[in-house]
Amino acid sequence: MLQDKNILLGITGSISAYKIANLASALVKLHANVDVIMTKNAEKFINPITFETLTKNHCITEMFDRNDVSEVKHIALAERADVIMIAPASANMIGKMAHGIADDMLSTTVLAAGCPVMVAPAMNVNMFNNPAVQDNLSVLERRGITVIPPETGVLACGDVGEGKLPSEQTLLDYILRATAKEKDLTGKKVLVTAGPTQESLDPVRFITNHSTGKMGYAVARQAMLRGADVTLISGPVSIARPPFVEVISVKSAEEMFQAVADRFAEQDYCVMTAAVADYTPAETKTEKIKKSDDGSDLSLSLKRTRDILKWLGEHKKDGQLICGFSMETENILENSTAKLHKKNADLIAANSLKDAGSGFGTDTNHLVLINKDGVTDLPLLSKEEAADRLLDVLSKM
Ligand code: CTP
Repeated sequence: MLQDKNILLGITGSISAYKIANLASALVKLHANVDVIMTKNAEKFINPITFETLTKNHCITEMFDRNDVSEVKHIALAERADVIMIAPASANMIGKMAHGIADDMLSTTVLAAGCPVMVAPAMNVNMFNNPAVQDNLSVLERRGITVIPPETGVLACGDVGEGKLPSEQTLLDYILRATAKEKDLTGKKVLVTAGPTQESLDPVRFITNHSTGKMGYAVARQAMLRGADVTLISGPVSIARPPFVEVISVKSAEEMFQAVADRFAEQDYCVMTAAVADYTPAETKTEKIKKSDDGSDLSLSLKRTRDILKWLGEHKKDGQLICGFSMETENILENSTAKLHKKNADLIAANSLKDAGSGFGTDTNHLVLINKDGVTDLPLLSKEEAADRLLDVLSKM
């Protein structure tokens, strides 16, 4: 995912410096080239050899290195970096950056950088809330530097409050957002529905289906990585929320409809991956779905849920694109093409429940994309790759 990307990590003196070993390792596993600069105080908390072992690069701790005269190091590092993350960032380093002071390798390199820079402050809660630190952070933000908010919790000093370095995963998410993909969807607003719905029969039981939400979450995540402003309307699922995405949790089909209808007007693309339950309990009996063998009545009073995709197709405005999903067991092409017309959708992503590697709960999917221009049969891909191919088609329509 990060092939050909150069990530420069700057580490300053804080106990949380140990977390950066995990971050460096995760970046290397995603095939990034990782350079690390440590300040003198950082070396008090973690050994440079840790980073050299993980990254296979020399960890830079000195401003002047007489053993390496091949390049002007701070300029070379600044120029090749695709992103610089200073984490943990001490109050001292934040102050130096705000005032353009360049008195060590890290502060000097940051001054020479043209790439995106992020700082993750980590310090005692009172230090963090000190007006001097807050003012310095505002200066950095005004200059376009991303300040990653510290988390609240028990700090190393025993105080409780804001000042904890966020988790390695959160730091990684910031780096991925900055570097993982071209930002070809910047300025686009994308709405995604995902997961199942739950239609309550009584306070205990409900009607639902096997959807895990993986496909919709992958669409939301890939659109976010490509720069889109993403809203994810999700039924009950047990997978992690994609970062930097507004997630709205709903249960029933009607709640999902309301959430979609409230936000639909400002969207550019709506991608409906949710497996909305087709029926919900009705006040009056409308359909008998089952009779038991012994003759006792097991019928349920059901009514059809509102078809959200169809509603979108009826209400869409010029420039809005609507994509539906279609899960079929047979006649996939005919049934899915019929859905394209019946629901006035712009694109249908069809998948067959009979295909190995496709369907509920898998990490892969074999999608057939159908629009007015024809049919694109994608190979079996990871759900992230399939989501990207779907977004490629939408962005070219
Ligand atoms: N969909 C929806 N609202 C519903 C039912 C379905 O928005 N009440 C959307 C799904 O999110 C999907 C598409 O419509 O994007 C197709 O869903 P599917 O269940 O395959 O189609 P149905 O129209 O329900 O047809 P059938 O169940 O008869 O195959």
